[in-house]
Amino acid sequence: MRSSVSFILDNKVISEDFKDAVLPTTTVLNYLRSLPVHKGVKEGCAEGDCGACTVVLGELAGDKIKYTAVNSCLVFLPMIHGKQLVTVENLKSADGALHPVQQAMVETGGSQCGFCTPGFIMSMFALYKNHNQPNRETIDDALTGNLCRCTGYRPIVEASAKSCVHCGLDSLTSWEPNVVQHLRSIERSAALIETKHQTYFQPRTLLEALTLKHQHTDAVVICGATDVALRVTKKHELLKKIIDLSLVDELQQIQDDPDCLRIGSAATLSSIEGSIVNFPALRDTFRVFGSVQIRNLATLGGNIGSASPIGDTLSALIPYGAKVVLQSVADKREVLLENFITGYRKTVRADDELIVEIIVPRPSPESIIKWYKVSKRKDLDISTISAGFRLELDSTNKISSVTLAYGGMAEQVKRARSAEDFLQGKLWSRETVEQAMPFIDKDFTPISDARAGKEFRQVAARNLLLKFWSETSPEKGKPR
Ligand code: FES
Ligand code: FES
Repeated sequence: MRSSVSFILDNKVISEDFKDAVLPTTTVLNYLRSLPVHKGVKEGCAEGDCGACTVVLGELAGDKIKYTAVNSCLVFLPMIHGKQLVTVENLKSADGALHPVQQAMVETGGSQCGFCTPGFIMSMFALYKNHNQPNRETIDDALTGNLCRCTGYRPIVEASAKSCVHCGLDSLTSWEPNVVQHLRSIERSAALIETKHQTYFQPRTLLEALTLKHQHTDAVVICGATDVALRVTKKHELLKKIIDLSLVDELQQIQDDPDCLRIGSAATLSSIEGSIVNFPALRDTFRVFGSVQIRNLATLGGNIGSASPIGDTLSALIPYGAKVVLQSVADKREVLLENFITGYRKTVRADDELIVEIIVPRPSPESIIKWYKVSKRKDLDISTISAGFRLELDSTNKISSVTLAYGGMAEQVKRARSAEDFLQGKLWSRETVEQAMPFIDKDFTPISDARAGKEFRQVAARNLLLKFWSETSPEKGKPR
């Protein structure tokens, strides 16, 4: 059993055995900043919101390296086992020439105080490696996770467009065969890392993971850790026992069946994006979910398992009738997602169970499903309210089936049952919808918080239903 973590940094395989000051929950950001030559990476928020800590991870993809930008403040060191860690210090070539994205930033005046600049550069580097001549939408998406307080984004966008034109070729390209060899040499076995106060398990198979969960029901399960990492970085908690599922390949599979999409709980949101083109409400959710850096880490099982009242994927998946597959050593069961959550961050998952899969039934052609998010910013923001609606109409334009799921309106994401009951069988008209709106007030007693007052939430929740009607009403054209 492996007790250390190996990764590539500066074209060398580095092994960390956690014998010194480094803990299994030391973030990659803090690890890098403890080294003499990797202080380019910056800490702004330590919670995934600013992008100053962006680094790029290289992973084997056949004979090639796949590069993804991540927030190093959210990544525990064992999570980069078997990967290449690329920092801003690695970008310039041996003769000291700047990388094309760095050179373009200089030429467009894309940096003033410079605090955000290494993070932007790393996001741009990932864009450079993955997209040739990206369009504006792709550039904007790549930069969504990076905040700049002084330069303004125009020159940074311009630098991205100007530099990402060399089909990803750069000074790192010649090193890639070497990196591939190094990555292949790293053993990808299960790990048990034990320090004085912490135990970190990294199983390789589902059976190992289920056995560990059976033996250690008190362990914190992570996979992506975009939520759990904040307990370390913001609350300074010492997590004593951790089961990290990120090396369990069986949990990362995505299966496109004729009647449903089966998504492994450890599949990252980025890896799912290509499979949900026929699930438009889900696709809309992912477009405004965090940032590229977050989606490269966050997993669907993690977002569902955290049972947050503002978990965006929950309100998007409930209208699809999604199911959660829970498994223990002895048993396996399916639970309808809307029944999975029982209260504020509470679920029906037993202590020895893991979420192993999410099943998203393919909707019938008659179903209209839409998802909406109300937040202070479009990108990289927490929902004030989210809403996922599903509607089926009969030939006379009467409602044969309706689901109204809301996030941010209660202690858990849940359906507006009395509004649904009122709508059932009625004509899908503005008049009906206006009559249904007061029922939403009965279904929820929202609270006021930093994001909005309860009155705003009530009005917005009602108006989202009206918006849904206005976008789907046959009176206004063919429903989409
Ligand atoms: Fe702000 Fe990591 S320090 S995203
Ligand atoms: Fe100062 Fe971006 S250049 S924060």
